[in-house]
Amino acid sequence: MKIKELIISEIKKNKKIDVSKFIEFCLYGDDGYYIKNDVIGGKNDFITSPEISQMFGEMLAAFLINYWNKNIKTEFNLIELGPGTGTLIVDILRTATKNKKFLNSINLTLIEKNKNLIIKQKNNLRNINFYSVNWTKEIDIKKNNRPSIIYSNEFFDCFPIRQFYKKNKWYEKYIKYNETQKIFNFISEEVDNIKMLNKLEKFNDVVVAEISEARKKYFELVCKHIKKNSGVCITIDYGYKEPPKYFSLQTIYNHNKTHLFENLGNQDITAHVNFDELMSIAYKYELKIDLFCNQKDFLNGCGLKERKEELQKNKNEKTFQKIELDYERLTNKSQMGEIFKVLVISCL
Ligand SMILES: C[S@@+](CC[C@H](N)C(=O)[O-])C[C@H]1O[C@@H](n2cnc3c(N)ncnc32)[C@H](O)[C@@H]1O
Repeated sequence: MKIKELIISEIKKNKKIDVSKFIEFCLYGDDGYYIKNDVIGGKNDFITSPEISQMFGEMLAAFLINYWNKNIKTEFNLIELGPGTGTLIVDILRTATKNKKFLNSINLTLIEKNKNLIIKQKNNLRNINFYSVNWTKEIDIKKNNRPSIIYSNEFFDCFPIRQFYKKNKWYEKYIKYNETQKIFNFISEEVDNIKMLNKLEKFNDVVVAEISEARKKYFELVCKHIKKNSGVCITIDYGYKEPPKYFSLQTIYNHNKTHLFENLGNQDITAHVNFDELMSIAYKYELKIDLFCNQKDFLNGCGLKERKEELQKNKNEKTFQKIELDYERLTNKSQMGEIFKVLVISCL
């Protein structure tokens, strides 16, 4: 069944579905966006930091190697969540060739749901002669007793969210299907569930609240894994600590903003990550917050400015300017420098 029919049949069962269920069908259903599409890169719907410049992966590699040298120094699990085309892991491994001890201690796992992207990841890793890789669809908390370094870029913003808004009382947005007009439309219902009302108390200063149960569950698994195996998790994503006043849910098709009801299964759907919630989960599992900052501070703290200047040496004007623009894109506060946040949690 196609996504539209699947959603309609789900709506028929319960008269309505919540926004997160709708998103889940569009992104992860049999015919869903992250299951079938080749989604990342200049010509596709969006471009991510590792695809903008090799410098991003080099800085993350510097951070990981430094952490490993200080805290691990033995064989370890290196786990990337949602590796996309594999550009980030390739840049990390390429940078790590200067540190053979680190490189030889890696047991690499890539967690990916998209078959087309797995093929790209395989090809890109083959090009740097790296073959020892384990691909899985889910994070395994039992795995083994080696310490783990888990990292992700633009992974947690993929998780579906439910949407609520406040007009004296809290209301949740749902989606219905109008059989006569053959269109989806939003309806609202007052929230009367006490548990949900308690959760919404954290959003008292905002008009729209976005809550992702799926993201919370996934991050709990990550924390359980770190707690059991020891190690560190680095999460880089669009997001906030103080909730934004209005909504962050956005749909993108071919680099243009669209409506949630358009291009079902063919457009990207994201919502900003609530880092305050991720930190609360980490505390619940008695993990330590090592760092929370914006992407600009993280990358510059890892030596991005110096690396940019090194790469620019002896380059012609065009390449020099391209490196400058890439640096700006990654760090400028009006581009990716501020809206992207970096959270590092580790085992006490
Ligand atoms: C926005 S892309 C980011 C790709 C890459 N990290 C980058 O920065 O270029 C999200 C990635 O996560 C994968 N993905 C999304 N949800 C997933 C899930 N629940 N489990 C595993 N992989 C998932 C997608 O297929 C894709 O590879």
